[in-house]
Amino acid sequence: MLSSSVFSSPPPRSRYRLFHRKTLANSQFQVFLLSLVLLVATVVARSSARSKPNSLITTAGPQTDSRVASLLQKMTVEEKIGQLVQYSAGQPTGPGTGRSDYEDMIARGRVGSLFNVVDPHQINTYQHIAVEKSRLHIPILFGLDVIHGFRTEFPIPLALASTWDQNLVERAARVAAMEASAYGIRWTFSPMVDIARDARWGRMAEGSGEDPFLGSAMAAAYVRGYQGSRLDAPASIAACVKHFVGYGAAEGGRDYNSTEISEHTLREFYLPPFHAAVEAGAASVMSAFNSLDGIPSSANPFTLKEILRHEWAFPGLIVSDWNAIAELIPHGIAVDGAMAARKAFNAGVDMDMVSSLYHEHLVQLVNSGQVSPSAIDDAVRHVLRVKFALGLFDHPFVDETAAPKALYRSESLALAQTVAERSFVLLKNEQGLLPLSKNTRTIAVIGPLADDASYPIGTPPGPGPRTSFVDALGQLIGQEHVKRYEGTGILEGSDEEVAAAVRGAQESDVAILTLGESPEMSGEAASRADLGLPGHQEELLEAVVKTGKPVVLVLFSGRPLTVPWAFEHVPAVVAAWLPGIRGGPALVRALFGEVNPSGRLVVTWPRAVGQEPLYYNALSTGRPPGSVDLGRPPFDVASRYVSRYIDQLNSPQFPFGYGQSYTSFSYGPTAISNPRLSAKELNSNLMSHAQPAFIAEAAVRNVGARAGDEVVQLYIRLQGTSTAQPVRMLKGFQTVSLGPGEMKRVKFELPARTLAVWNDRNQFRVEPAKLTVWISPDSASGTPAEAEITP
Ligand code: BGC
Repeated sequence: MLSSSVFSSPPPRSRYRLFHRKTLANSQFQVFLLSLVLLVATVVARSSARSKPNSLITTAGPQTDSRVASLLQKMTVEEKIGQLVQYSAGQPTGPGTGRSDYEDMIARGRVGSLFNVVDPHQINTYQHIAVEKSRLHIPILFGLDVIHGFRTEFPIPLALASTWDQNLVERAARVAAMEASAYGIRWTFSPMVDIARDARWGRMAEGSGEDPFLGSAMAAAYVRGYQGSRLDAPASIAACVKHFVGYGAAEGGRDYNSTEISEHTLREFYLPPFHAAVEAGAASVMSAFNSLDGIPSSANPFTLKEILRHEWAFPGLIVSDWNAIAELIPHGIAVDGAMAARKAFNAGVDMDMVSSLYHEHLVQLVNSGQVSPSAIDDAVRHVLRVKFALGLFDHPFVDETAAPKALYRSESLALAQTVAERSFVLLKNEQGLLPLSKNTRTIAVIGPLADDASYPIGTPPGPGPRTSFVDALGQLIGQEHVKRYEGTGILEGSDEEVAAAVRGAQESDVAILTLGESPEMSGEAASRADLGLPGHQEELLEAVVKTGKPVVLVLFSGRPLTVPWAFEHVPAVVAAWLPGIRGGPALVRALFGEVNPSGRLVVTWPRAVGQEPLYYNALSTGRPPGSVDLGRPPFDVASRYVSRYIDQLNSPQFPFGYGQSYTSFSYGPTAISNPRLSAKELNSNLMSHAQPAFIAEAAVRNVGARAGDEVVQLYIRLQGTSTAQPVRMLKGFQTVSLGPGEMKRVKFELPARTLAVWNDRNQFRVEPAKLTVWISPDSASGTPAEAEITP
C-alpha cells in the first residue's frame, strides 16, 4: 500500500508515530522494520516521481551543492547565522528593529538579505561591502514586494487572475522580473497564493481569488514568469510564495487574525496553490503571520517541515513574514526573544525577516544545545543555494546606468494595457447601454476615482507614463465632450458637490460614475467590516440615477463591493478593480467597445457582508434549501428549518466565474466520453499527465452580433465519497474566441487526479462516486452530465 502512494498523497500522520514509540514487541518490531523500508522507498519514489524540471534545482545543480558545501566549511557559526538574517533597509511597512547599522553588519557577515532598497546605486554600495569587505565575500540577496509589476504597474493580482489567462499572468511577471532585476532586486515576495473566501479581508486584492484550481494555475504562472527557465539569467528573480499557510482564512476577515482550518480543508483548498508553485520551482516560501489551529504559522513544524520539506521535497529557502518571529510573543507561544527564535528556527524557518531575533539569539541557542549545528547548516544551505542559483556569486552587481532603460518599455506598457482590458468584468449591461458610442455629445464623468492615474497597491507609483481615465476619455472623444465633476471624495463630500454633479448629469447625454475604494483601502492591513461604497458615494450615485440619464457605473476596488441598490437600478456596471498604469486607456477602450470585456470573477460577489465568508465551492449542508423561496421570510416549518438566512438570500449577487460580454454565448449540453470509470484504474494512473481519465465537451456558440472571448469552465461534483465534497469544483477552463454566429466544440481532457479527493484517511485517492460534470459559463449554471466511478 505504501509503495502505491500517489500524487500529493502524504503518508498518513499516524505512520510517523511509529518512530516515536519507545518499546516495540517483536512482531511489532518486524512491522516497524518493514514500514521503515517501505517508507524510505516511498519517499525516494515520491521525490523522484515529483521532481519535474525545477528551475531552482536545474540551475543550482550538483556543482552548486559542492560550492555551497565548501563555503559552509569555511564559515564561523556567526557568519552562518548572518546568512539567516534579513532587514528592511527602506520604507518600513510594519514594526521594525530600529537598526540602521547595516553597512557595519554586512562587513562583518551578519546580514544575508536586505529588502525595500530600490535604488541601484544603494544596492551596489551595500553589495560592494558584502563582496569586498566581508571575510567570505558572500553577496547580499536584495528583495522587494514586486506584487503587480515593479514600475510598470499591472492590474492588482485579483484583476490579473480575472483574465483567467496564465499566459498573460506569466508575461506580466516576466516584465516585473525584467524591471526589478535591472535595479538589482533579485527576489520578489510574490506570488501571494492565499485562497481568499472573505471579501472583508483586504489582501484578497493580492491573490488569485477563492479557487484552488485556478489559484494553482496562476501560482505556477507567476513562478514561471519571475524565474524564467533559469534563475541565473540576469532578468530572472526568485519567487517567494506566500503566506504559508491559511492566512486568507483570517476570522472575521480581519487581517492577521487567527485561523481554524481542518487538515482536510487545508489539503483540499489552501495547500494546492502552494504545492503548484513549489512544483513550478519556486525558490522560496514565506511563513505566514496567522496562527493555524492554535499554532502560529511561523513556528509550525507540521506545515513547514512535514508538508513543505518532507512531502513536497521543497529545496528552497523559507523566510518568515515581517517580524513574524517576534510576533510569536504576542501570539503567546514564546515569552521572550530567545524562545521565539528557537521555536521558529526549530519549526523550519530559515531566515528571519526584520525581527533581528536570530541575530540576537541563535548563537547562544546553538551553544546551549537548543538548536543543532546541523540544522543551522541546513538553513544556510537553503539560503546559499538560492544565491548560487541566481548567479549572485558570479554577477553580484547591477549596471546602474542601464537600469532605467528597463522601465516602461513600450511592449511592457502595451502588455499592461492588454492585461487591464482583459481583467474588467462586465457585471451588468441592460439594453445594450454599453458599449458607448464615440459620437456621444456630452459625457459627465462623476466620482472620485476618474483622475487616479495608476491605482497601485503596495509600492508607491514612480514617475512613469500614466494616463487617467478622464484624460484617456478626452483623447478618444475630444476633451470638449467630457465634463468632469468630482461629486464627492472617497470618504468626505458635501451636498454642494453632489448637486453640481447632478446638474452636470442633467446637462449630459450619459453619466459615467467612477466610484469605489482608494488603493489603500485594500491590500495589507485594510480589512473592512462594511463592503458598501465608502463615504457618500452611494448617495451621489442614487442622486445621479434619479436624473433619468443613462448611467454607467465603474467600480474600482480590491474586492467585491456590496451595492445591491446599484445592481438593481444602474443599467451598466463594470468591475475595473485597480487596473494599473494603463488602466485609464484600457477602460476607455472597453467602455467604447474597442475591446469586448472577457474578464470573469475569481471571487464570489456577495449581496451583503453578513454572507461572508462566501464561496462557490462550499459543502452542501444536510438541509439545503432546495426549492424553498428564500426571498420571503420563513412562514412554516418546511421553509424555516433549512440552512438559510431569515433576512437575506443564500445566493451571491454574482457567482464565481461570472462575467458578461457585449455578445452572448449559448452552451450545448455537456457530453462525457466515458460514463463508467474505475477508481482502481484511475488510482493507478494518478501520476500520469499523458493519459486523460475522461474527456468532456460541449458546443459553445456566439449567438450575438459581435466577436467575443468566452471563458469556458468545467466543474465537477462527487457524491458518495468518504469525505463530503463541494457542490461544485472547477477542474478546467479555456478561453475561446468566437466570431458572430460561430460555434466551437470545446473539449477538456481531464487527468485522473482531477477526480481524486482527500479521503477520510487523509490520502489523496479516487473513490467510487457519482460524478456530475458541467461545462458552463460560471459556477452557477450549465446542463450537467453524469457518470459513475465504480470501485
Ligand atoms: C507582508 C508580506 C510582505 C512583507 C515584506 C509583510 O507585512 O505580510 O506580504 O512580503 O511585509 O514587505
